[in-house]
Amino acid sequence: MPDAYILGIESSCDETAAAVVRSGEQLISNVVASQIATHQPYGGVVPELASREHLRAIVPVVRQALAEANHTYNSVDAIAVTQGPGLAGALLVGISYAKALSFALEKPLIAVNHLEGHIHSVLLEEREKGNHEVQFPVLALVVSGGHTHLYLAAQRGSSWTYDNIGHTRDDAAGEAFDKVAKLLGLGYPGGPVIDRLSAYGNPRAVKFPPAQIKHRDRRDRRDGKQIAPSDGRPRFDFSYSGTKTAILRYVEIHQMRDSVEQRRRALSEIAKPKLDDIRVLCDKQTLDLVASFQRALIEDLVGKTLAAVEAYNVATLFVTGGVAANQELRQTFESESAKQGVPVYFPSRPLSTDNAAMIAAAAYPKFLARDFAAMDFSAEAALLLR
Ligand code: KG4
Ligand code: ZN
Repeated sequence: MPDAYILGIESSCDETAAAVVRSGEQLISNVVASQIATHQPYGGVVPELASREHLRAIVPVVRQALAEANHTYNSVDAIAVTQGPGLAGALLVGISYAKALSFALEKPLIAVNHLEGHIHSVLLEEREKGNHEVQFPVLALVVSGGHTHLYLAAQRGSSWTYDNIGHTRDDAAGEAFDKVAKLLGLGYPGGPVIDRLSAYGNPRAVKFPPAQIKHRDRRDRRDGKQIAPSDGRPRFDFSYSGTKTAILRYVEIHQMRDSVEQRRRALSEIAKPKLDDIRVLCDKQTLDLVASFQRALIEDLVGKTLAAVEAYNVATLFVTGGVAANQELRQTFESESAKQGVPVYFPSRPLSTDNAAMIAAAAYPKFLARDFAAMDFSAEAALLLR
């Protein structure tokens, strides 16, 4: 198969990223400009600000990715860009720039689904380690700020096809981390803070009721069409809004509001708070609550994913997306999937969260199949993965 150097561009949420990857198996450069500082005061991503920051960062980020790879605009073989899902205005910045480059340089343009990108970040790194054989069926848990999705993946030629067998009915897991951190005055984004603070609390101190999914899934039907399998096969859906409400109630019952406000104010005065700055502002009750929340969420994620592994006779498990950076999540998946005798693969931490190497890697099978995007393709905020 011919070598191909693909320039990947990613701008679906709050990271402007560009990378050069060789043939889906070697990361040559990987540049990520994070907008955390812009969104921090608001405790979440503000779409208009995200678009503006992408506009500011896109050209220097792409230039840096090319320079670090010792490549030029002319020496890459194709340009790949995230088409969706994500914030429409943010996606459009990456797409417009990728189209302009493709047109001016006369290079093929490849549209990539962000979720397939997260799955390919695992594959890219496994190939770098020399592991070119993946046993199917693969189950991929994509767990991030926007998604908690389970995909059963099969192989068709050099491409993969996906079947969704579970998703969140309300908040994504990363969104739950972010909302709980906001509610407890711990700053933004919540995942990395809660990950590190949890080590100081007792994860068995607070009991949360297990997630109950009673209502019908609104997303089963869209525009009158069935989009989720209704063939009686088992589904493994998630729900985290109940846990978030339980924390809100806990804070009220235990009169923690004032201490939350004090912490929020104290942290807003520190430009870049370190873990110790945050930890000294948390009493034992808060640390126990944080650790118990993380444990409950991880037990639910791991329990349902491994039930799906069994139900679908899965040979290999992938866990990817921003939340896959979580230390306790990784350890729990490793020990529990070992008991079931199923290998589990994660991306390294830098490739767990949003990046463009995963977009360039996912584009390679499309490059081989000459599956190029037409110049009139556009952003799809709710793009499905099939
Ligand atoms: O994949 P990603 O960078 O962006 C999306 O596609 O959403 O994921 C970002 C999410 C945020 O919600 C963030 O809080 C969460 O991933 N996250 C973590 C950790 N690092 C990032 N959650 C738990 N533990 C972490 N260490
Ligand atoms: Zn993502």
